[in-house]
Amino acid sequence: MNYSKKQIKTEDGSTTYRMEDLKENYHSLNGAITESHFVYITEGFNFWTQKNKDRECNILELGYGTGLMTYMSFLEADRMNRFINYTSLEPYPLTIEEVNLLNYDQFFENSKDLMTFNKFSTISWEETHKVSPHFRITKKKICFEDYKSQKFFDLIYYDAFGAHVQPELWEPELMKKCYSLLNPGGAWVSYCSKGSVRRGLKEVGFSVYRLPGPPGKREMLRAVKK
Ligand SMILES: C[S@@+](CC[C@H](N)C(=O)[O-])C[C@H]1O[C@@H](n2cnc3c(N)ncnc32)[C@H](O)[C@@H]1O
Repeated sequence: MNYSKKQIKTEDGSTTYRMEDLKENYHSLNGAITESHFVYITEGFNFWTQKNKDRECNILELGYGTGLMTYMSFLEADRMNRFINYTSLEPYPLTIEEVNLLNYDQFFENSKDLMTFNKFSTISWEETHKVSPHFRITKKKICFEDYKSQKFFDLIYYDAFGAHVQPELWEPELMKKCYSLLNPGGAWVSYCSKGSVRRGLKEVGFSVYRLPGPPGKREMLRAVKK
């Protein structure tokens, strides 16, 4: 999105971008790393791996943004000794300079031997890369609305900007698309806990769970395909 971005520090000390014109940030002000890890790794990937002991996990992320969540998933796959096949969608990629300026490597000092965040960010778009024994990634410059897939996913990380910025991404029509992209037992997770989104998820067939949220937020949502 072609709006001017300002780097800001969030509660846990990690940085993110804010688009003042839209009054929207790439991550929560309560802690970019803390919240992303809690919502998507703990309540998404860790939840799924507990229920599926031996299978590889197919993850779809909307949208790639800074790459922070993708990188944390890459680290978690290695830590848990599980294989992730990761697809991330992003119609408006940040420049490599914008990503490097966030200085995320300082928060992942112990992970440099595996691959630094800055190196990870140079992985090319539109191709599939096996970047470690535990992680395969495909980054696609495309809107979720236009994305078509032959394969199904076990997890959807639904990390769109808020409904005040992109209401169309939170409508039941796209929740239906998420449902159709998941394997049975697959889960959709998001920081969002809006009642209208919850109702939309239920309407298209998901079992919806309101979970205690990350620090600073009361709730988040997990929706499971029956
Ligand atoms: C809240 S940010 C995601 C932050 C990201 N997960 C991270 O770790 O940095 C939302 C992202 O969705 C992208 N986006 C906007 N419209 C989209 C669409 N129609 N389909 C997929 N992604 C979209 C934005 O450009 C932005 O990068």
